[in-house]
Amino acid sequence: MKKYITHSEDETRRLGEETAARLSGGAVVALSGDLGCGKTAFVKGFAEYFGCDDEVSSPTYTLVNEYDAEIPIYHFDVYRLNHPSVDECDWLDEYLFGDGICLIEWADNISEVLPGDTVWIRFKKLPEDGGNDREITVE
Ligand SMILES: Nc1ncnc2c1ncn2[C@@H]1O[C@H](COP(=O)(O)OP(=O)(O)OP(=O)(O)O)[C@@H](O)[C@H]1O
Ligand SMILES: [Mg+2]
Repeated sequence: MKKYITHSEDETRRLGEETAARLSGGAVVALSGDLGCGKTAFVKGFAEYFGCDDEVSSPTYTLVNEYDAEIPIYHFDVYRLNHPSVDECDWLDEYLFGDGICLIEWADNISEVLPGDTVWIRFKKLPEDGGNDREITVE
């Protein structure tokens, strides 16, 4: 497990880029942490590493955005899901076990159905009362 502190959105984006450089097709990345702690900022940097020019934003209502990049990137935001059953998550398998990379905001909400080798990244605001510092752990 590795722990990072970032001091700006840009630094979090860069951490996303650096993380992307160590992963390849088939990876599943779970992003966990409260509203506004930088999950989408991280995905922006991550997608940029793979040459994505599409606009990156949290797909809270559509559940998944697909970005055109060197490897297909599937950006999930499962904020609105609440531990659905395995049957209800059938549709996810083609993404989770496909050749692209999945990045999943609010992944705790579907933790039961994620593959065992999922890379978990946890975001925390430091201090809790809302500055620009974020503690980000990668496991
Ligand atoms: N160190 C930092 N890293 C990332 N974002 C930061 C940082 N400091 C301040 N910010 C600000 O915090 C906000 C992070 O927003 P972002 O959309 O990435 O959060 P999120 O975790 O995806 O939230 P949500 O759960 O609502 O989708 C942005 O407004 C960004 O400018
Ligand atoms: Mg987001």
